[in-house]
Amino acid sequence: MSSPQPNPTIQSLATRIKTGQITRIVVLTGAGISTSAGIPDFRSPTTGLYDKLAPLNLPYPEALFHISYFSHSPEPFYAIARARHPANLKPTLSHAFLALLAKKNILHFLFTQNVDNLEEKAGIPAEKVLAVHGSWKSQHCWTCKASYPDELMEKAINAGEVPYCLEAGCGGAIKPDVVFFGENLPSAFDEKIHLISEAECMLVLGTSLRVAPCSTIPRQIAAGVPRVLINMEKAGDLGSREDDVLLLGSCDEGGLSVCGCAWVEG
Ligand code: APR
Repeated sequence: MSSPQPNPTIQSLATRIKTGQITRIVVLTGAGISTSAGIPDFRSPTTGLYDKLAPLNLPYPEALFHISYFSHSPEPFYAIARARHPANLKPTLSHAFLALLAKKNILHFLFTQNVDNLEEKAGIPAEKVLAVHGSWKSQHCWTCKASYPDELMEKAINAGEVPYCLEAGCGGAIKPDVVFFGENLPSAFDEKIHLISEAECMLVLGTSLRVAPCSTIPRQIAAGVPRVLINMEKAGDLGSREDDVLLLGSCDEGGLSVCGCAWVEG
Protein backbone atom coordinates (compact mmCIF):
# COMPACT_ATOMS: atom_id res chain seq x y z
CA MET A 1 0.00 0.00 0.00
CA SER A 2 1.60 3.29 -1.06
CA SER A 3 2.03 5.94 1.64
CA PRO A 4 -0.58 8.78 1.60
CA GLN A 5 0.65 12.08 0.10
CA PRO A 6 -1.09 15.14 1.58
CA ASN A 7 -2.52 17.61 -0.96
CA PRO A 8 -1.76 15.56 -4.06
CA THR A 9 -1.86 17.29 -7.45
CA ILE A 10 -2.59 15.60 -10.76
CA GLN A 11 1.14 15.82 -11.47
CA SER A 12 2.11 14.11 -8.20
CA LEU A 13 -0.53 11.42 -8.74
CA ALA A 14 0.66 10.89 -12.31
CA THR A 15 4.22 10.46 -11.03
CA ARG A 16 3.02 7.85 -8.51
CA ILE A 17 1.21 6.05 -11.35
CA LYS A 18 4.28 6.28 -13.60
CA THR A 19 6.63 4.98 -10.89
CA GLY A 20 4.31 2.10 -10.01
CA GLN A 21 3.40 3.43 -6.55
CA ILE A 22 -0.26 3.46 -7.61
CA THR A 23 -1.36 0.25 -9.35
CA ARG A 24 -4.97 -0.18 -8.28
CA ILE A 25 -7.26 2.55 -9.65
CA VAL A 26 -11.01 2.22 -9.10
CA VAL A 27 -13.10 4.31 -11.51
CA LEU A 28 -16.72 5.51 -11.46
CA THR A 29 -18.16 7.01 -14.64
CA GLY A 30 -21.39 8.65 -15.71
CA ALA A 31 -23.04 10.18 -18.76
CA GLY A 32 -20.44 12.95 -19.02
CA ILE A 33 -17.89 10.59 -20.60
CA SER A 34 -20.26 9.80 -23.48
CA THR A 35 -21.53 13.31 -24.35
CA SER A 36 -18.71 13.79 -26.86
CA ALA A 37 -19.87 10.53 -28.52
CA GLY A 38 -23.21 12.25 -29.19
CA ILE A 39 -25.31 11.01 -26.24
CA PRO A 40 -26.60 13.99 -24.19
CA ASP A 41 -26.28 13.55 -20.44
CA PHE A 42 -29.33 13.74 -18.17
CA ARG A 43 -29.03 16.81 -15.97
CA SER A 44 -26.87 19.44 -17.69
CA PRO A 45 -29.03 22.57 -18.04
CA THR A 46 -30.60 22.96 -21.56
CA THR A 47 -28.48 20.20 -23.18
CA GLY A 48 -29.35 17.37 -20.76
CA LEU A 49 -32.13 14.91 -21.64
CA TYR A 50 -34.25 15.86 -18.64
CA ASP A 51 -34.55 19.45 -19.91
CA LYS A 52 -36.03 18.33 -23.22
CA LEU A 53 -38.92 16.10 -22.14
CA ALA A 54 -41.72 18.70 -21.91
CA PRO A 55 -43.45 17.46 -25.12
CA LEU A 56 -43.81 14.00 -23.54
CA ASN A 57 -46.03 15.32 -20.70
CA LEU A 58 -44.30 13.17 -18.08
CA PRO A 59 -45.29 13.60 -14.40
CA TYR A 60 -41.56 14.22 -13.69
CA PRO A 61 -38.43 13.71 -15.91
CA GLU A 62 -37.13 10.49 -14.28
CA ALA A 63 -40.57 8.87 -14.86
CA LEU A 64 -39.20 8.15 -18.33
CA PHE A 65 -36.94 5.52 -16.73
CA HIS A 66 -39.27 4.36 -13.94
CA ILE A 67 -40.61 0.80 -14.26
CA SER A 68 -44.00 1.76 -12.81
CA TYR A 69 -44.48 4.43 -15.52
CA PHE A 70 -43.07 2.19 -18.28
CA SER A 71 -45.50 -0.58 -17.26
CA HIS A 72 -48.49 1.47 -18.41
CA SER A 73 -46.87 3.98 -20.79
CA PRO A 74 -43.81 2.67 -22.63
CA GLU A 75 -44.34 5.11 -25.54
CA PRO A 76 -42.31 8.07 -24.16
CA PHE A 77 -39.29 5.83 -23.59
CA TYR A 78 -39.37 4.66 -27.22
CA ALA A 79 -39.88 8.25 -28.38
CA ILE A 80 -36.35 9.04 -27.11
CA ALA A 81 -34.73 5.62 -27.48
CA ARG A 82 -33.25 6.19 -30.92
CA ALA A 83 -31.25 9.26 -29.78
CA ARG A 84 -29.78 7.29 -26.88
CA HIS A 85 -29.29 3.90 -28.50
CA PRO A 86 -25.53 3.29 -28.88
CA ALA A 87 -25.90 1.34 -32.18
CA ASN A 88 -23.63 3.53 -34.28
CA LEU A 89 -21.69 5.39 -31.60
CA LYS A 90 -17.95 5.31 -31.10
CA PRO A 91 -16.06 5.46 -27.78
CA THR A 92 -14.68 8.84 -26.71
CA LEU A 93 -11.20 9.92 -25.65
CA SER A 94 -12.36 9.30 -22.07
CA HIS A 95 -13.14 5.67 -22.91
CA ALA A 96 -9.73 5.42 -24.60
CA PHE A 97 -8.07 6.81 -21.46
CA LEU A 98 -9.77 4.13 -19.33
CA ALA A 99 -8.79 1.46 -21.86
CA LEU A 100 -5.16 2.66 -21.51
CA LEU A 101 -5.36 2.25 -17.72
CA ALA A 102 -6.58 -1.33 -18.30
CA LYS A 103 -3.79 -1.97 -20.82
CA LYS A 104 -1.24 -0.78 -18.25
CA ASN A 105 -2.81 -3.15 -15.70
CA ILE A 106 -3.68 -0.36 -13.27
CA LEU A 107 -7.47 -0.34 -13.80
CA HIS A 108 -8.54 -2.22 -10.68
CA PHE A 109 -12.23 -1.92 -11.56
CA LEU A 110 -14.64 0.35 -13.43
CA PHE A 111 -18.17 0.98 -12.19
CA THR A 112 -20.15 2.72 -14.94
CA GLN A 113 -23.64 4.18 -14.69
CA ASN A 114 -23.78 4.31 -18.48
CA VAL A 115 -25.75 1.81 -20.54
CA ASP A 116 -24.14 2.54 -23.92
CA ASN A 117 -21.62 -0.32 -23.73
CA LEU A 118 -18.89 1.99 -25.11
CA GLU A 119 -16.45 0.56 -22.57
CA GLU A 120 -16.51 -2.78 -24.40
CA LYS A 121 -16.17 -1.03 -27.78
CA ALA A 122 -13.12 0.81 -26.38
CA GLY A 123 -11.51 -2.53 -25.57
CA ILE A 124 -11.79 -2.46 -21.79
CA PRO A 125 -11.84 -6.12 -20.65
CA ALA A 126 -15.35 -7.22 -19.61
CA GLU A 127 -14.03 -8.58 -16.30
CA LYS A 128 -12.87 -5.07 -15.40
CA VAL A 129 -16.25 -3.36 -15.90
CA LEU A 130 -19.69 -3.43 -14.32
CA ALA A 131 -22.55 -1.55 -16.00
CA VAL A 132 -24.38 -0.93 -12.72
CA HIS A 133 -27.48 0.34 -14.54
CA GLY A 134 -27.48 -2.46 -17.11
CA SER A 135 -27.13 -1.87 -20.83
CA TRP A 136 -28.80 -1.85 -24.23
CA LYS A 137 -26.97 -5.07 -25.17
CA SER A 138 -30.09 -7.25 -24.75
CA GLN A 139 -33.84 -6.89 -24.14
CA HIS A 140 -36.71 -8.86 -22.60
CA CYS A 141 -40.47 -8.64 -22.17
CA TRP A 142 -40.98 -6.70 -18.95
CA THR A 143 -44.08 -8.89 -18.23
CA CYS A 144 -43.06 -12.51 -18.92
CA LYS A 145 -39.25 -11.88 -19.18
CA ALA A 146 -39.04 -13.70 -22.55
CA SER A 147 -36.03 -12.55 -24.57
CA TYR A 148 -36.59 -10.57 -27.76
CA PRO A 149 -34.60 -10.64 -31.03
CA ASP A 150 -31.97 -7.88 -31.48
CA GLU A 151 -32.95 -7.19 -35.07
CA LEU A 152 -36.62 -6.60 -34.17
CA MET A 153 -35.54 -4.35 -31.28
CA GLU A 154 -33.29 -2.31 -33.57
CA LYS A 155 -36.20 -1.95 -36.06
CA ALA A 156 -38.60 -0.76 -33.33
CA ILE A 157 -36.06 1.72 -31.91
CA ASN A 158 -35.33 3.19 -35.33
CA ALA A 159 -39.06 3.56 -35.96
CA GLY A 160 -39.69 5.00 -32.47
CA GLU A 161 -42.30 2.29 -31.92
CA VAL A 162 -42.96 0.13 -28.86
CA PRO A 163 -41.98 -3.53 -29.50
CA TYR A 164 -44.30 -6.10 -27.92
CA CYS A 165 -43.69 -9.64 -26.69
CA LEU A 166 -43.88 -12.45 -29.26
CA GLU A 167 -45.00 -15.06 -26.71
CA ALA A 168 -48.57 -16.27 -27.31
CA GLY A 169 -51.03 -14.52 -25.06
CA CYS A 170 -48.48 -12.18 -23.46
CA GLY A 171 -48.31 -8.91 -25.39
CA GLY A 172 -46.11 -7.23 -22.78
CA ALA A 173 -43.89 -4.30 -23.81
CA ILE A 174 -40.25 -5.12 -24.49
CA LYS A 175 -37.69 -3.29 -22.33
CA PRO A 176 -33.93 -3.13 -22.90
CA ASP A 177 -31.95 -4.67 -20.04
CA VAL A 178 -31.33 -1.19 -18.63
CA VAL A 179 -32.04 -0.94 -14.88
CA PHE A 180 -35.03 1.35 -14.44
CA PHE A 181 -35.78 3.20 -11.24
CA GLY A 182 -37.74 0.75 -9.08
CA GLU A 183 -35.79 -2.26 -10.38
CA ASN A 184 -32.98 -4.21 -8.70
CA LEU A 185 -29.34 -3.66 -9.64
CA PRO A 186 -27.37 -6.57 -11.10
CA SER A 187 -26.31 -8.99 -8.34
CA ALA A 188 -22.73 -8.44 -9.54
CA PHE A 189 -22.81 -5.02 -7.85
CA ASP A 190 -22.82 -6.68 -4.41
CA GLU A 191 -20.05 -9.03 -5.57
CA LYS A 192 -17.79 -6.21 -6.80
CA ILE A 193 -18.38 -3.48 -4.24
CA HIS A 194 -15.55 -4.81 -2.02
CA LEU A 195 -13.05 -3.73 -4.70
CA ILE A 196 -13.54 -0.13 -3.55
CA SER A 197 -11.69 -0.92 -0.32
CA GLU A 198 -8.67 -2.11 -2.36
CA ALA A 199 -8.32 1.18 -4.29
CA GLU A 200 -5.03 3.09 -4.18
CA CYS A 201 -6.69 5.91 -6.14
CA MET A 202 -10.28 6.71 -7.20
CA LEU A 203 -11.18 8.47 -10.46
CA VAL A 204 -14.71 9.87 -10.83
CA LEU A 205 -15.54 11.00 -14.36
CA GLY A 206 -18.63 12.63 -15.89
CA THR A 207 -21.23 12.17 -13.19
CA SER A 208 -23.34 14.49 -11.04
CA LEU A 209 -23.36 11.84 -8.28
CA ARG A 210 -27.12 12.30 -7.89
CA VAL A 211 -28.26 8.65 -8.02
CA ALA A 212 -27.55 6.03 -5.34
CA PRO A 213 -25.97 3.59 -4.87
CA CYS A 214 -23.26 4.74 -7.31
CA SER A 215 -23.29 8.21 -5.74
CA THR A 216 -22.12 6.62 -2.46
CA ILE A 217 -19.03 4.93 -3.97
CA PRO A 218 -16.58 7.88 -3.62
CA ARG A 219 -17.46 8.23 0.09
CA GLN A 220 -16.53 4.57 0.63
CA ILE A 221 -12.95 5.20 -0.46
CA ALA A 222 -10.59 4.84 2.52
CA ALA A 223 -9.19 7.97 4.14
CA GLY A 224 -5.78 8.84 2.71
CA VAL A 225 -6.61 7.37 -0.72
CA PRO A 226 -6.60 10.16 -3.34
CA ARG A 227 -9.90 10.81 -5.16
CA VAL A 228 -9.85 12.65 -8.50
CA LEU A 229 -12.99 14.27 -9.96
CA ILE A 230 -12.85 14.94 -13.70
CA ASN A 231 -16.12 16.72 -14.41
CA MET A 232 -17.56 19.99 -15.72
CA GLU A 233 -18.76 20.82 -12.22
CA LYS A 234 -18.19 19.80 -8.60
CA ALA A 235 -20.09 16.67 -7.59
CA GLY A 236 -20.82 14.85 -4.33
CA ASP A 237 -18.31 15.46 -1.54
CA LEU A 238 -15.32 15.52 -3.90
CA GLY A 239 -13.08 18.35 -2.83
CA SER A 240 -13.89 17.94 0.86
CA ARG A 241 -10.85 15.79 1.67
CA GLU A 242 -7.19 16.87 1.80
CA ASP A 243 -6.34 14.10 -0.73
CA ASP A 244 -8.98 15.11 -3.29
CA VAL A 245 -8.01 16.52 -6.68
CA LEU A 246 -10.58 18.39 -8.79
CA LEU A 247 -10.04 18.62 -12.55
CA LEU A 248 -13.08 20.71 -13.49
CA GLY A 249 -13.57 20.67 -17.25
CA SER A 250 -14.13 18.18 -20.04
CA CYS A 251 -13.60 14.48 -19.30
CA ASP A 252 -11.77 14.00 -22.60
CA GLU A 253 -9.29 16.79 -21.77
CA GLY A 254 -8.95 15.64 -18.16
CA GLY A 255 -8.07 12.12 -19.28
CA LEU A 256 -5.56 13.52 -21.75
CA SER A 257 -3.91 15.63 -19.06
CA VAL A 258 -3.49 12.63 -16.74
CA CYS A 259 -1.92 10.67 -19.61
CA GLY A 260 0.24 13.65 -20.51
CA CYS A 261 1.57 13.90 -16.95
CA ALA A 262 2.02 10.15 -16.50
CA TRP A 263 3.22 8.81 -19.80
CA VAL A 264 4.35 11.58 -22.15
CA GLU A 265 8.09 12.04 -21.80
CA GLY A 266 9.50 15.53 -21.31
N1 APR B 1 -16.96 16.57 -19.63
C1 APR B 1 -17.03 16.62 -18.27
N2 APR B 1 -18.19 16.59 -17.57
C2 APR B 1 -19.33 16.51 -18.30
C3 APR B 1 -19.35 16.45 -19.71
C4 APR B 1 -18.09 16.48 -20.37
N3 APR B 1 -18.01 16.41 -21.71
N4 APR B 1 -20.66 16.38 -20.12
C5 APR B 1 -21.41 16.39 -18.99
N5 APR B 1 -20.62 16.47 -17.91
C6 APR B 1 -21.00 16.41 -16.50
C7 APR B 1 -22.19 17.26 -16.12
O1 APR B 1 -21.78 18.54 -15.72
C8 APR B 1 -22.79 16.45 -14.96
O2 APR B 1 -22.20 16.82 -13.74
O3 APR B 1 -21.38 15.06 -16.27
C9 APR B 1 -22.40 15.00 -15.27
C10 APR B 1 -23.55 14.19 -15.82
O4 APR B 1 -24.51 14.10 -14.79
P1 APR B 1 -25.93 13.43 -15.11
O5 APR B 1 -26.49 14.04 -16.35
O6 APR B 1 -26.73 13.50 -13.83
O7 APR B 1 -25.60 11.92 -15.47
P2 APR B 1 -25.21 10.75 -14.46
O8 APR B 1 -24.50 11.27 -13.27
O9 APR B 1 -24.53 9.70 -15.25
O10 APR B 1 -26.67 10.22 -14.01
C11 APR B 1 -26.71 9.09 -13.19
O11 APR B 1 -29.12 9.14 -13.42
O12 APR B 1 -31.06 9.28 -14.67
C12 APR B 1 -30.17 8.41 -14.09
O13 APR B 1 -29.82 6.20 -14.77
C13 APR B 1 -29.49 7.51 -15.10
O14 APR B 1 -27.28 6.54 -14.98
C14 APR B 1 -28.01 7.76 -14.89
C15 APR B 1 -27.97 8.32 -13.50
